[in-house]
Amino acid sequence: MEISFVSHGPGTGGRRQPFELVRILGTVVAEFVGSVAGRRRLRSALRTQRLRISRLQAMVREREQRVLERERTIVAREQTVIERERQIDALTAIVDGTVPPPCGGPEILRRLPEILRGVDGWCSEAKAAWLVSLILRESCRQIAEIGVFGGRSLLPMALAARSLGMASVLAVEPWDNEVAIRAPTGAQNDAWWARVDMPAVKSRFLRQLVNLGLADVVRLVEGCSAEALRLLGTAKEVGHGRFDLVHIDGSHAPGQALQDVLSWSRLVRPGGIVVLDDIAWDSVGAAVAWLRGHFLTVEEVREADGASYGAYRRPLRRILPAPTASQSNFRSDGPI
Ligand SMILES: C[S@@+](CC[C@H](N)C(=O)[O-])C[C@H]1O[C@@H](n2cnc3c(N)ncnc32)[C@H](O)[C@@H]1O
Repeated sequence: MEISFVSHGPGTGGRRQPFELVRILGTVVAEFVGSVAGRRRLRSALRTQRLRISRLQAMVREREQRVLERERTIVAREQTVIERERQIDALTAIVDGTVPPPCGGPEILRRLPEILRGVDGWCSEAKAAWLVSLILRESCRQIAEIGVFGGRSLLPMALAARSLGMASVLAVEPWDNEVAIRAPTGAQNDAWWARVDMPAVKSRFLRQLVNLGLADVVRLVEGCSAEALRLLGTAKEVGHGRFDLVHIDGSHAPGQALQDVLSWSRLVRPGGIVVLDDIAWDSVGAAVAWLRGHFLTVEEVREADGASYGAYRRPLRRILPAPTASQSNFRSDGPI
């Protein structure tokens, strides 16, 4: 509190009084003449000022809170605007004829090398073809992918779903270095994820999404898997079993892969499919073991260069036993 004493004046009866006026926050609040009454007036004035200050502080805190809330609303609205702009771009591109017309399944497979050219990520052409064929064979229209990066698996999947009509593809990706290394996966791996230029990867992905005419098919959640689950609400709210296929390719850290499998498998309809990436990784072992124990293994693939992935079908009824000890001890060099 700023208190200043001004006008150092003479006292009564020849005695010097210390101060005549006391100024608090620029306001003269008391004449301090050294008397008991003067001191009382000063104390009371100080109390009043303290009350005023704490009331002002409470008001400031309340206003800060309101400003924060407004900022949050603005950010949410900006997201909506970005989303709408993307949709407008996509529609404009279709109207302008700069987007290739939707193509059917066989054409997607034929065009895969061209579709994947310049798309960031790890999905091989063989895996993309496998995903497209799986989606077409199983008629998967409602799809989710956890871990999109540049869209190498998402874009072919979305094209396949779109070719079936009435498709909706949920894409979950934070594009955030901090999130990518939140659950450690090894020093070398984490060093790469800490540096990769996520905004550039994201903007290339969005451009490719628009160029392929997929903006009206793909719904994007820019956040981590847990945030997307929160947005979707509980399994009960979204209706137990919402997706025909979920591709889990997010964090490969031990624990997180299992967590993703446990959470997202519940959102797959009975008879629907969970695809899990890198099933040969030790850190993904527990997730693979759970799927083998609770879902029906459709197919597990290991490519010559080491890439591995599997498809697992949710049983129509809960008929499978819990995973055995050997299943949960899945090793990367074990049989697939
Ligand atoms: C292996 S990449 C995905 C590759 C992509 N599906 C492809 O085929 O090219 C893993 C992605 O998961 C994202 N990721 C990391 N942690 C995540 C989390 N908790 N939830 C969702 N995505 C996450 C990373 O940002 C990264 O882009």
